[in-house]
Amino acid sequence: MSILVTGGAGFIGSNFVLDWLAQSDEIVVNLDKLTYAGNLENLASLQGDARHVFVKGDIGDYDLLLSLLEKHQVRAVINFAAESHVDRSIHGPEDFIQTNILGSFRLLEAVRQYWNNLGQLAQQEFRLLHVSTDEVYGSLAQTDSPFAESNQYQPNSPYSASKAASDHLVRAYHHTYGLPVLTTNCSNNYGPYHFPEKLIPLCIQNALSGKPLPIYGDGQQIRDWLYVKDHCSAIRRVLADGQVGEVYNVGGWNEKANLDVVNTLCSILDELQARSDGKSYAEQITYVTDRPGHDRRYAIDASRLERELGWKPAETFETGIKKTVQWYLDNQAWVGNVLSGDYQSWLDKNYAGRSA
Ligand code: NAD
Ligand code: DAU
Repeated sequence: MSILVTGGAGFIGSNFVLDWLAQSDEIVVNLDKLTYAGNLENLASLQGDARHVFVKGDIGDYDLLLSLLEKHQVRAVINFAAESHVDRSIHGPEDFIQTNILGSFRLLEAVRQYWNNLGQLAQQEFRLLHVSTDEVYGSLAQTDSPFAESNQYQPNSPYSASKAASDHLVRAYHHTYGLPVLTTNCSNNYGPYHFPEKLIPLCIQNALSGKPLPIYGDGQQIRDWLYVKDHCSAIRRVLADGQVGEVYNVGGWNEKANLDVVNTLCSILDELQARSDGKSYAEQITYVTDRPGHDRRYAIDASRLERELGWKPAETFETGIKKTVQWYLDNQAWVGNVLSGDYQSWLDKNYAGRSA
């Protein structure tokens, strides 16, 4: 028996694969298209490890998926594969529709075909866990309660709309065909192997390179931060004991305004690797034109996961962010290798047109 992880060379997927194999000898088949966000270097420590089977491919490839499911007698699929960056979805939504909607649909079709042919016991034990986001619930006002699983879907970006579509398909495949699915909707992750297009790794890297730390709008937008390894432990928990057909919100009760997050990064860097001129990295903070349709506030109510499955995050924001900054300082070679020509053209596209 084995599990199939899709998108396992990306930020959260690779952390999940590493965590899984640190705790279990069950084989992980890792299907990843290796887009700009996929990086096999994240999994370098698994080189030569027979428990990790990497396959380069697309979740939209029905035949490939079906053959992998059959060949490896997969007992569970964890679907991380997606286009994940909101700003990229604003500049070019097409890839988001292709992978997040059509790709998820083809994955569901292959899984349904495989599952239909399993024996009764294997059918009962099989799970498809779909990894989704809090962004599907839209934006909260300052005084609103955090998102509960029963909140209405109100996605505002092409990214969140495409994730919402995939969530609905997953739900429908359970309701219509009885496919044993689970869905998790998680808040903003941070930690090792986070691609430096996202706020936290981008600002760490820009700070160290003496570049501006770009704050969209007034920097008072709120995100609810969770250390990536806590997200991985929540997924393992839901996979093991979650109720089939149900949705679990995952979050760390860590609401922070973006400006506060960036100031925190600057003070940790001031302490760990001070600027040569003795000034604070906070001097590099620069306000730039806001993201179109920018959601003001996300906050996750993760009480169902704690009440029903006993899950709690291990890290606070303070412990997790310190570990994260230290990881980037210790892994500058990893960062250097992802700063390719493609990455530079993305920075030009996203930031050149924003006035300071
Ligand atoms: P990421 O962009 O770092 O990684 C995505 C991975 O999927 C990459 O390795 C990429 O190569 C792969 N991929 C993309 N298209 C593919 C395709 N068609 N077929 C196969 N592989 C493909 O993303 P992430 O931040 O690790 O997010 C993983 C999942 O978690 C996504 O579904 C995302 O929506 C969800 N999520 C992310 C966060 C977050 O804060 N990063 C929070 C909640 C939920
Ligand atoms: O909430 C979960 C989501 O979190 C995931 O579903 C997404 O895949 C993930 O990318 C993340 O989305 P965000 O848009 O919240 O993350 P990002 O790091 O891009 O931005 C965090 C906040 O910081 C957001 O309010 C926009 C702001 N920001 C971002 C960048 C890149 C800036 O102010 N400046 C920047 O340069």
